[in-house]
Amino acid sequence: MKTMGTGFFILAVFFLTACGTVTLSGEETQDHAAHPKDYSVAAIDDMAALPDIEMVDGVTYVDDILVVNEAFSLPASYNPGLQPEVVEAYQQMFQDGSEEGLDFVLVSDFRTYQYQEQLYNSYVARDGREAADEYSARPGHSEHQTGLAIDVGSADSATTLSVEFGDTPEFEWMESAAHEYGFIIRYPEGKAEITGYQYEPWHLRYVGEEAAAIYESGLSLEEYLGID
Ligand code: DAL
Ligand code: ZN
Repeated sequence: MKTMGTGFFILAVFFLTACGTVTLSGEETQDHAAHPKDYSVAAIDDMAALPDIEMVDGVTYVDDILVVNEAFSLPASYNPGLQPEVVEAYQQMFQDGSEEGLDFVLVSDFRTYQYQEQLYNSYVARDGREAADEYSARPGHSEHQTGLAIDVGSADSATTLSVEFGDTPEFEWMESAAHEYGFIIRYPEGKAEITGYQYEPWHLRYVGEEAAAIYESGLSLEEYLGID
């Protein structure tokens, strides 16, 4: 997957913000920014590898997957609630897990911009901004505001929202099964430099069918989409 630097994203966000609803195809980007007159086979291959980034009403889609991270935000007014396909998927996963003797608990799901703002501000007050930024999204930058993310715990409440959840039988099963339900472990271990957040074994992001390919790749979402 083609990797691009921060400069591209600043440029992309500028264009997208300025133009409202636009599609920034790899071809346009390549044409204007990188190799304006290079029509070699290698250059054309490069163009094909670039992701399609589209902004619709302030929401960013990369290759049709909604992306929210430190670079891409959501409008404060974006308020979709928890998505029905996510409810169906996690309920099925929890039920299948219980048949394996596992006990899943839903800890957190949809959050409004305003609730994320309260949470983030409380973490900053407690731990300082630098520390809070390691584990909490700023308002408008949380996947929980998409209605496509959930936090999962186990019956062992001592591990709730802690890295120790990664040592529970629930996580061991979920890590290799979540993609079958359309989920990915969004903030994997050792990927904080790329995702922007420390390891969160409990945070699942629903992406639907593409979850299997992302899981098989072993990549974070940013790497998989070529926006790391
Ligand atoms: N803990 C994740 C990054 C969030 O605040 O959305
Ligand atoms: Zn979460």
